[in-house]
Amino acid sequence: MILVTGGAGYIGSHTVLVLLEAGYDVVVFDNLSNGSEEALTRVEHLAGKKAHFEHGDIRDRERLDEVLSIYPVTAAIHFAGLKAVGESMKKPLEYFDNNVSGSVHLLQALRQAGVFNIVFSSSATVYGDPGTPVFNENMPTGTPSNTYGYTKLVVEELLKKTQAADPRWRVALLRYFNPVGAHHSGTIGEDPAGIPNNLLPFIAQVAVGKRDQLSIFGGDYPTEDGTCLRDYIHVMDLAEGHVSALKAIERFDHGGVGIWNLGGGKGHSVLEMVEAFEQASGRSVPYKIVARREGDLAQFWADPGKAKRELDWEVKRSLHDMMADTWRWQSQNPNGYRE
Ligand code: NAD
Ligand code: UFG
Repeated sequence: MILVTGGAGYIGSHTVLVLLEAGYDVVVFDNLSNGSEEALTRVEHLAGKKAHFEHGDIRDRERLDEVLSIYPVTAAIHFAGLKAVGESMKKPLEYFDNNVSGSVHLLQALRQAGVFNIVFSSSATVYGDPGTPVFNENMPTGTPSNTYGYTKLVVEELLKKTQAADPRWRVALLRYFNPVGAHHSGTIGEDPAGIPNNLLPFIAQVAVGKRDQLSIFGGDYPTEDGTCLRDYIHVMDLAEGHVSALKAIERFDHGGVGIWNLGGGKGHSVLEMVEAFEQASGRSVPYKIVARREGDLAQFWADPGKAKRELDWEVKRSLHDMMADTWRWQSQNPNGYRE
């Protein structure tokens, strides 16, 4: 059975679906601070199989021990944490507490339960600003531009050092690029609380009429059309990458740490994203170009070669799929899971 912390959230719920469809039993552990049980109900309908749900906080060691004593867990996929870049600068203690202390408690509880396989949600932000747009896993980690990014880097180090001290651990550090999209059915997707921080949820809310226009942060970057380039990855491709990584660490002869980029290897500009969304949805997305946002890099994308070689994984879904699936989710669920 796989313990999925944060499994009621955006990426977690899609990964739970892929795990169930691949035949795994799953127990989700989530405090519902940014997740929804409704997402798991919908996952159950799609999979024809239920994931167990346990309400709890990864900072609560007793609760973790309790859950690990009930279920025969063999591996954990660890999504639980806070992820808003701007908020992380204002609330560093909350971010270090949830993301770093929470991870320490989780590792202690897993060790006590004899579970040494873990897949961790990291981010391309750990590369910092390496001075080249193509990020590959041989590059040293850098200085993330925000506190959220720091917590990801610290947890990567925590996992590496824990594994170095105890070779029973098998660890996957998955560096995500920009997750977007929704399940093809449009029944599960990203449901941000309040004003979306990320580009695609904002575009989708403009298209559905919830917001007037998109502000594009910067039109004078040294890119072809002046807007930033990112490597957007369909959330279902990302979810499948987790199952591939889980299988890869299970194949390690001894313990170890595997680091893999999960991205498509191609950058798209903000203007390209707007255009592709308009095409897929048939709606117009009014925008204005405003000042740059602090901390944004002009452009970066993944070198996806290592994941292809070692995980036998690569993205299968196109930019059009990302847009069409986002639109299906947004138009069928204008208020997300809060009907
Ligand atoms: P999300 O907020 O939708 O999911 C996180 C889930 O964790 C939520 O369901 C929330 O309720 C739960 N949670 C938060 N703190 C918890 C705690 N202390 N105890 C138990 N549960 C807790 O976010 P997401 O986009 O699905 O991201 C999942 C993971 O991937 C996060 O670790 C995030 O940092 C990482 N990540 C996300 C992105 C992205 O752009 N979405 C990019 C890179 C990395
Ligand atoms: N953007 C806009 N307008 C918006 C929102 C975003 O123009 O309203 C632009 C940004 O400037 C950027 C691009 O769209 O050029 C993508 O922005 P997102 O906020 O969607 O994504 P980021 O690349 O900034 O963020 C990602 C992850 C974070 C991670 C961060 C580190 O979502 O988890 O990279 O760089 F920390």
